[in-house]
Amino acid sequence: MKGIILSGGYGTRLLPLTKVTSKQLLPVYDKPMIMYPLEILLKAGIKDILIIVAPDHAGDYLKLLGSGKQYGARFAYEIQDKPEGLAHAFIIGENFIDSNNVAMILGDNIFEDDMSETIRNFRSGGHIFAKKVPDPERFGVVKFDENMNAVKIEEKPKEYLSDYAITGLYLYDNRVVEAAKQAKPSARGELEITELHNWYLAKGELKVDIVKGEWIDAGTFETLYKATQLARKKSGLMKS
Ligand code: TTP
Repeated sequence: MKGIILSGGYGTRLLPLTKVTSKQLLPVYDKPMIMYPLEILLKAGIKDILIIVAPDHAGDYLKLLGSGKQYGARFAYEIQDKPEGLAHAFIIGENFIDSNNVAMILGDNIFEDDMSETIRNFRSGGHIFAKKVPDPERFGVVKFDENMNAVKIEEKPKEYLSDYAITGLYLYDNRVVEAAKQAKPSARGELEITELHNWYLAKGELKVDIVKGEWIDAGTFETLYKATQLARKKSGLMKS
């Protein structure tokens, strides 16, 4: 399985912090934010990782992470000229993915849960992870039936759908590249990852697990602060 960390974007909600650097290079307790999603992929035994970055900060990522050798892995880098959506990553990554399965993780997502076994055991279809949140309308949202099977997925629903947000770790088989190429830009001009989930859902091949522990999308001042607290807790310096 190959790995992708999507670490581009503008990070406008964190201005002025993101005026001179990339959001995913900002400190979260004792290391840059991107190191957390990177550790998830490494822990799952993924050795080939593509890091997709915005043009302005490519050099800084290379300086931070290098070839990957020090982590026993190989890192490749691609530039995303402008944020064209999460699903765009699979088009940028087509050659890198080649004929493999792929785990994509967002560079600003911090998980308390350990998903490494699930990642290792992934074989085919799509497998995504949801979490109950108080503000689901900010995210892709999944509705479950009484047996916790996913029945509907919508990007930032205007009408209430459910409390379960889809988190930023996505496991897909190789067909995701074709699905991404078929996707049409949404009203906000992005290739939405929700379309890819729905592509697999329609085929009855999408699995949705619930994430244990905290999950933080560290894209706002409040959540960046919470991410720092979680990282500090995980490092064992604080009990609760
Ligand atoms: P967002 O937080 O939605 O976007 P952003 O990082 O540009 O921030 P803001 O909304 O404050 O301007 O993106 C989620 C993650 O995905 C984040 O790590 C950036 C990344 N991303 C890309 O790399 N490329 C893209 O095209 C998009 C939409 C997001």
